[in-house]
Amino acid sequence: MATKKAEAPKGKLGVMVVGLGAVTSTFMTGVFMTRKGLAKPIGSCTQYDKIRIGKGEDKKYLHYKDIVPLATLDDIVFAAWDVYPANAYEAAINAEVLKEKDINPVKDELEAIKPLKAAFDHNYAKRLDGDNVKDCKDRWDMTEQIREDIRNFKKETGVERVVVLWAASTEVYVPVDEKIHGTVEALEAAMKADDKEHIAPSMCYAYAALTEGCPFIMGAPNTTVDIPAMWELAEKTKMPIAGKDFKTGQTLVKSGFAPIIGDRCLGLNGWFSTNILGNRDGLVLDEPANFRTKEVSKLSTLETILVPEDQPDLYGHGNDEDTQYYHKVRINYYPPRNDNKEGWDNIDIFGWMGYPMQIKINFLCRDSILAAPLCLDLVLLSDLAARAGRYGTQRFLSFFLKSPMHDYTKGEVPVNNLYQQHTMLRNAIREMGGYEADEEMD
Ligand SMILES: NC(=O)c1ccc[n+]([C@@H]2O[C@H](COP(=O)([O-])OP(=O)(O)OC[C@H]3O[C@@H](n4cnc5c(N)ncnc54)[C@H](O)[C@@H]3O)[C@@H](O)[C@H]2O)c1
Repeated sequence: MATKKAEAPKGKLGVMVVGLGAVTSTFMTGVFMTRKGLAKPIGSCTQYDKIRIGKGEDKKYLHYKDIVPLATLDDIVFAAWDVYPANAYEAAINAEVLKEKDINPVKDELEAIKPLKAAFDHNYAKRLDGDNVKDCKDRWDMTEQIREDIRNFKKETGVERVVVLWAASTEVYVPVDEKIHGTVEALEAAMKADDKEHIAPSMCYAYAALTEGCPFIMGAPNTTVDIPAMWELAEKTKMPIAGKDFKTGQTLVKSGFAPIIGDRCLGLNGWFSTNILGNRDGLVLDEPANFRTKEVSKLSTLETILVPEDQPDLYGHGNDEDTQYYHKVRINYYPPRNDNKEGWDNIDIFGWMGYPMQIKINFLCRDSILAAPLCLDLVLLSDLAARAGRYGTQRFLSFFLKSPMHDYTKGEVPVNNLYQQHTMLRNAIREMGGYEADEEMD
């Protein structure tokens, strides 16, 4: 993949989001409020983080925008698809994430965002029953209709570039099937044959985005762009893809905390994570087939940080056949908490001469408040990557994602350690700003 200095952006940046729910309405409200100077985009690396460029006496710490030509918040024009017809204002009110006083000043801007009909299949999210849904002959037709939406949006708004972000509900688990998902040709044939079992609606969005020349980001744990066919399509169309699953609450803590255990050579017997969550996301995840998708994504975090094969004395204990130490993740739907998720982690570690200890982490977080800045960062950095001629899986975006994509056909291993991910991010920003990547990835 070519690495070059990113070209300066021209014109407006269209951001088309799949799903107009808690996360995206919070994202949009925050962008509009920030534009008016009424809120601050806290938690967003593109708006706050500083990176060192140069070394020794020449070194400087600069914001991303002073290193690379990022699009600004003023450049963004939103559009959305959703199964329900509620506009972005109604979605923000219904989600109950933000107080009305933080939504009403941008009511007009939010009301103008009316969701396009969703490319949806009830079998992929049984708990949803909205009727703002496209009538599709088959999966190929579904893809064609999404492509037309993207073209119309460009025409109507005059945006120069579009990024497509999936922040819709988690679909049921679609395991990778090499016969169907192995090549673009096979994927297209399955779409034309209306293979509903192997072609999730999210794959139609991704296919449509890439073929229309738009980067695609997968914010849910769906396998959508984590398949060889989409990598091939991303290469062919020279478009960036990123995924999967926003790294917000518990997994953020896990990928930041696990290195403490690893770097100090402490042992691990087990890690039990549980959550209560009451929003619509929680409702969809209450369905076992949808939870399976999330579980696979969440479980992957520890395996590459604390590796039993590398340190059998430290991580070869416990009683789980796959990981050696016992790793369990649970999500429980509990309506009274709505978006205010509470996560508990119980970590059974051991130290000198094998003596056991426990760590308990209780994170009372706000799901969408943590996810909104990630949406902004992923959108702006994917747009930047496209202008820098980067295409295919953007591994430098792993910092923002729970289950980073990697090419398993080439034996690539995902990087889950938060600090290594941050190094990858900093190096990519340096390169796209025309500087050298100067931090080693150990
Ligand atoms: N908030 C977080 O911390 C976090 C972290 C990681 C991942 N996620 C993922 O982000 C996604 C969004 O979360 P949320 O809390 O906003 O959920 P939400 O339920 O509030 O919103 C999702 C919206 O997507 C819509 N939708 C479902 N299928 C669709 C389709 N095929 N086309 C168009 N719209 C569709 C639903 O109608 C719903 O309005 C979920 O998949 C969630 O698992 C969230």
